[in-house]
Amino acid sequence: MRTITVELGERSYPIMIKSGLLSEVGARMKDLGFKGKAAVVTNPLVGDLYAGELLKSLKGSGFSPFLITLPDGEEYKTIEVATTVYDALIENTMERNSPIIALGGGVIGDLTGFVAATYLRGVPYIQVPTTLLSQVDSSVGGKTAVNHPRGKNLIGAFYQPRAVFIDPDVLKTLDAREVRAGLAEVIKYGIIRDPAFFAFLEENSSKLLGLGAELTRAIERSCEIKAEVVGADETEQGLRSILNLGHTFGHAIEALSGYGTYKHGEAVAIGMYLAARLSAALGLCDSGVVERVKGLVSSVGLPTEPPEFAVEAWIESMRLDKKVSSEAMRFVLIKRIGTVSLEVVGEEELKALYAGL
Ligand code: NAD
Ligand code: GLY
Repeated sequence: MRTITVELGERSYPIMIKSGLLSEVGARMKDLGFKGKAAVVTNPLVGDLYAGELLKSLKGSGFSPFLITLPDGEEYKTIEVATTVYDALIENTMERNSPIIALGGGVIGDLTGFVAATYLRGVPYIQVPTTLLSQVDSSVGGKTAVNHPRGKNLIGAFYQPRAVFIDPDVLKTLDAREVRAGLAEVIKYGIIRDPAFFAFLEENSSKLLGLGAELTRAIERSCEIKAEVVGADETEQGLRSILNLGHTFGHAIEALSGYGTYKHGEAVAIGMYLAARLSAALGLCDSGVVERVKGLVSSVGLPTEPPEFAVEAWIESMRLDKKVSSEAMRFVLIKRIGTVSLEVVGEEELKALYAGL
């Protein structure tokens, strides 16, 4: 088993990664000092596949678990659905030390984390992420949220889990398109922090979708990098913003094409390519970097070509995303593979980028 620790000053928590870990969650939670009641939050699809094994593991270690099943989908990541979880927790007299376990992808993880942050002013929660995106990104770092009709993740809190249990075996039932979308975030870690990891991904790009040892190694390295960045800047005062490489472009693509047309990871893949193009256009990196980003993103079956929107719509959407009204916006740009920086970019430079696409 691989254990990575997220160090947050006086607090810390483990990310454990191991094939078959799902059946050990009860024992590991007991080791961490938990006991008694435990709520498991999931959705019908993931619940049918994996809740049985998780509940068995919890009961086997002396817990009294119960299941809260929410509808599947981003459209249910709302305060109304969170309220139904509060109802179930109150109904089952969950107390301040009783843990809540998120079993699912980023939607379940974000919503469950938000509920844990707010129920009784904060109760412990555990992440058992079941999509690649949630294993390498959303389950680590404590960003919890629900959506508001006016925008994604507008209501939330920084609230860290007590542990993250990653079982790569559960990815076997995940749609291949979801696996590819998760790989966009994996590639991101190489670009922002680790040239050797990027080279490893290039060498093994054809094997990653096979869900074998190469993907497990990629999950481990991704979690290490995320843990390092979050440990240095838990509440995104500075460094943590490098995790948003490609995301400003990506969010605009998601919004302008209508949510659901592109998966988040697909939009981020295009966004990373655009960030590379912009970096080269501004003289921050050479064209070889753009070619490597494009090559790796394409080789795992992710898109790089952006859909066509009017340049004014792009810029307006990115302003909304960044919640800025001034002319200049800050983007995570690439200096070389493994090194990025936050740069102010003006409207003219963005217009020139779009004109050249
Ligand atoms: P998701 O949670 O919607 O899961 C995608 C689909 O896969 C769902 O239908 C789900 O039921 C299904 N699924 C999950 N695990 C499965 C499995 N093992 N086998 C078969 N099907 C499975 O999507 P996601 O991509 O995991 O998460 C997206 C969410 O994560 C968004 O709401 C986004 O805002 C959030 N997010 C949060 C952070 C953060 O730092 N908190 C970071 C990135 C994304
Ligand atoms: N997914 C970006 C972050 O966790 O900060």
